[in-house]
Amino acid sequence: MRLSFFSAKPYDKKSFGLAHAARDPPSPVTITYHDIPLNEDTVSTVRDADAVCAFVNDSLSAHVIETLARQGVKAILLRCAGFNHVDLAAAARHGIMVANVPSYSPEAVAEFAVALIQTLNRNTHRAYNRVREGNFALHGLLGKTLHGKTVGLVGVGKIGLATARIMKGFGCRVLASDPFPSPAFEEYGEYKDLDTLLSESDIVSLHCPLMDNTRHIINGDTIAKMKKGVLLINTSRGGLVDTRAVIKALKTKHIGGVALDVYEAEGSLFYDDHSGEIIHDDVLMRLMTFPNVIVTGHQAFFTEEALEEIAQCTLRNLEEFIKEGTCKNSLTKEPELRSKVPDPVRNV
Ligand code: NAI
Repeated sequence: MRLSFFSAKPYDKKSFGLAHAARDPPSPVTITYHDIPLNEDTVSTVRDADAVCAFVNDSLSAHVIETLARQGVKAILLRCAGFNHVDLAAAARHGIMVANVPSYSPEAVAEFAVALIQTLNRNTHRAYNRVREGNFALHGLLGKTLHGKTVGLVGVGKIGLATARIMKGFGCRVLASDPFPSPAFEEYGEYKDLDTLLSESDIVSLHCPLMDNTRHIINGDTIAKMKKGVLLINTSRGGLVDTRAVIKALKTKHIGGVALDVYEAEGSLFYDDHSGEIIHDDVLMRLMTFPNVIVTGHQAFFTEEALEEIAQCTLRNLEEFIKEGTCKNSLTKEPELRSKVPDPVRNV
């Protein structure tokens, strides 16, 4: 089984190399790493591969999948949880299995969301720069005590629940909105409808997937329902937030601060070094001029433990596919596919 591995970074090669070498019995998979992303422009380079491994900003549109099928690819291994960038219906039509890594470390992402809340609230990002310049003044760094504040979580699946647990530990009141309530959350807080959550929360953190009905769930109308001075955190998917609406609300000071680990047009920028170039994304550049905005490059998942589990689980998925023709984490087997495809998810 030959696996073509796209968007390969040095840390991917290291974690997959270690996991591959440690397989017992030895893995029947041969991995070829490519630094380039997988998309409409690069898919024609896929030769002699039985499977491809892709990450969050690779594009797996119907056209890419059709080309992969023509080249004899039988499985797509996502080394991530989100699958909004994959046309699952097209994969099913072409008999290609798509599998993801559904849960590698929800705590890693939750801890990063909390780190963003803490940084934004206490202005640690500004303090760090100031002190390096010999400026020890506190003016402009005033924060708020989190204890007793209300935190609203949009989506309390694995990551939202881990975030709820931490924020409850801080002494916050935790609210959640989720169309599929679960008793697991009730230990930490209360479910509310989205409008109530937005109107009562001092901090709103997004943890729901990107789908047609969640695209721009944070927009001009929903921002208007938020408390003045609210902090908005997004570690889920960029497409959940209408960035232009956020910029307007930052200018009027309706939003008190924004921390984004994901951005709706991140595909052409994130995961690469553009420091010597002119960046043409004026929306992102404007956003980054605000002192109360933090942008990070989709790194909430990035811990040693998460990388190790991603590599192990991806190889397990492929080895199971070789033996069984499918795997436990397949997104294209019935009936899971039926429940995922009617509400088609689109590319970020
Ligand atoms: P999950 O599937 O366990 O939880 C998602 C929750 O969102 C579910 O409870 C679901 O019912 C809920 N939901 C669906 N539609 C909703 C809506 N309209 N409003 C409110 N809630 C809604 O997923 P998990 O593992 O917690 O991941 C959440 C998201 O985090 C993923 O979709 C992925 O996009 C993102 N993620 C980001 C990472 C990063 O490095 N920044 C790393 C891993 C995941």
